[in-house]
Amino acid sequence: MASYDLIVIGSGPGGYVCAIRAAQLGMKVACVEGRETLGGTCLNVGCIPSKALLHASHQLHEAEHNFAKMGLKGKAPSVDWKQMLTYKGETIEANTKGIEFLFKKNKVDWIKGWASIPAAGQVKVGDEVHETKNIVIASGSEVATLPGVEIDEKTVVSSTGALELAKIPKEMVVIGAGVIGLELGSVYSRLGASVQVIEFLDVITPGMDAEVQKTFQRTLKKQGLTFTMGAAVQGVTVKGGKATVTYKLRKDDSEHEVKADTVLVATGRRPYTDGLGLAELGVEMEERGQIKTNGYATNVAGIYAIGDAITGPMLAHKAEDEGMAVAEILAGQKGHVNYDVIPGVIYTHPEVANVGATEEQLKEAGRAYKVGKFSFMGNGRAKANFAADGFVKILADKTTDRILGAHIIGPMAGDLIHEICVAMEFGAAAEDLARTCHAHPTYSEAVREAALACGDGPIHS
Ligand code: NAI
Repeated sequence: MASYDLIVIGSGPGGYVCAIRAAQLGMKVACVEGRETLGGTCLNVGCIPSKALLHASHQLHEAEHNFAKMGLKGKAPSVDWKQMLTYKGETIEANTKGIEFLFKKNKVDWIKGWASIPAAGQVKVGDEVHETKNIVIASGSEVATLPGVEIDEKTVVSSTGALELAKIPKEMVVIGAGVIGLELGSVYSRLGASVQVIEFLDVITPGMDAEVQKTFQRTLKKQGLTFTMGAAVQGVTVKGGKATVTYKLRKDDSEHEVKADTVLVATGRRPYTDGLGLAELGVEMEERGQIKTNGYATNVAGIYAIGDAITGPMLAHKAEDEGMAVAEILAGQKGHVNYDVIPGVIYTHPEVANVGATEEQLKEAGRAYKVGKFSFMGNGRAKANFAADGFVKILADKTTDRILGAHIIGPMAGDLIHEICVAMEFGAAAEDLARTCHAHPTYSEAVREAALACGDGPIHS
C-alpha cells in the first residue's frame, strides 16, 4: 500500500486544487472521491451545469427579445429540452475529464470510493487503509432541507434535481431568493415557466448591498419572475405529481397556498462531513456543523479542512484559494487567503457581482466613506448590446480614497469585478482606477467612471 505525504478527501474545487498544488510542490498526493467523476458539486451538479443552462436560456431570451431589433428576422428558436440537457451533460463531462487529465499530468492518484479517517495518518476507503503524513478534508456541503419539505428530486427538487427535470415546468415555485433560487428560477422563467419566488425575508439575496438588491429584484420582476416576500414556507405536499406549497406571511400570520408542477428548495446548504468519523476522532466542530479550524488545521495534528466544510462563504473560489493555501503551508511556505477580497457573483442576466464591504456595513461600522456610482446607461457598448440596465458602485474611504467595496449589476459584472479585486489587493485608491486608461468601447469603462465618481465626477453622466 502506498504511503502518501497528503491525502485529500473530496475532489471539488477545494480538494482537486489542493491536490494539484501539493503535487506541484513536490508531495506524493492522492485524492479520494466517491462520485463516478471528479469535480464535486461544482462541476457535476452546481456551478458548471447551471452555467450551461443559464447560457442556453439567455441565448433564447436574446433571440426572443433583441434579435428583431438588430435586424435579425425569423422565428425565435424553439426549445429542444433533451438536447439542452445533452449540451449540459457534455459541458460537465469536458470539465470533469479535464480534472482527470490534470491529476494524471501532476501524478495525483485518484482513490475511488468514500473515505473515513480511522486515525490521524490513516484514510480508509473500502477495505483498504492508506497511510499518509497529512489529511485535508474538502468534503464540501449538501442541501439544507426545510422541516415539512421532502425533496424527491422529481416534483420537489434541490438544485441537483432542478438541473435534470424531466420537462420544463409550467408553474414553478422557488423557495428562497438566494443565489441558487434566482439563477435557476431565471433559467426556467426564460424557458417559459411561470416562476414564483417565496422568500422569508423582505429582501432578496440577503447580505448584498441594498441598492443592488432593489435594482436586481426590479429587473427580475421585469423579466417575469414574481416574488412573495416576508413569507415562511410551512410545508409542501405532493399529490398526483402536483405540489402544494403552504406559507405564512410574517406580517399578519395569514396562511396561503400555491400550486406548482415543480418546487425548487433553495434555502441554503450545510457542511457535509457524514461518514468521516470525525466525532470518534475528537475533531472539534463549530455550532453550525462546520469543522473548527485554526489556519486550516483542526485540533487533531495532521488533519486539515477547507472549503464549504469550514466557516466562510460557500463559494468554489474561496475553497480553491484555501486549497492552494493549505498545500503551500504543508510545503513550508506561507500560504494565505485574503478574506476581505473574495468576490461574489450571481450569474443571472444581468449579472450581479460584489467584493468587500456593502454601504450598510460601512454605515454600521461608523466609517466615513464616499460613493461613486455610474449607470450602464452612460456606457456606449452596453447601449449597443441592449445591456444598459444596472450600475457600478464603488465605495471608498472618505479621507484616503482607498477602495473598500464594489457592487455591480450589469453586463459581465462577474468579470468586471476582478479589476476592482486586484485594485483592492494592492490597496489602491479609487483615483488609481480612475487614472488607468480603459479601452473604448468596453463595459470596463463603467468601472472607471464609477471610480471617477468617487472624485471629481464621471464624464458620461
Ligand atoms: P442562500 O443562503 O444564498 O439563500 C437562501 C434563501 O432562502 C435566503 O434568502 C433565505 O432567507 C431563504 N429562506 C430560508 N428559509 C426559508 C423559508 N422557510 N421560506 C422562505 N425562504 C427561506 O442559499 P442557496 O441559494 O440555497 O445557495 C446555497 C449556497 O450555495 C450559498 O452559500 C451560495 O453562495 C452558494 N452558491 C453560490 C453560487 C454562485 O456563487 N454563483 C451559485 C449557487 C450556489
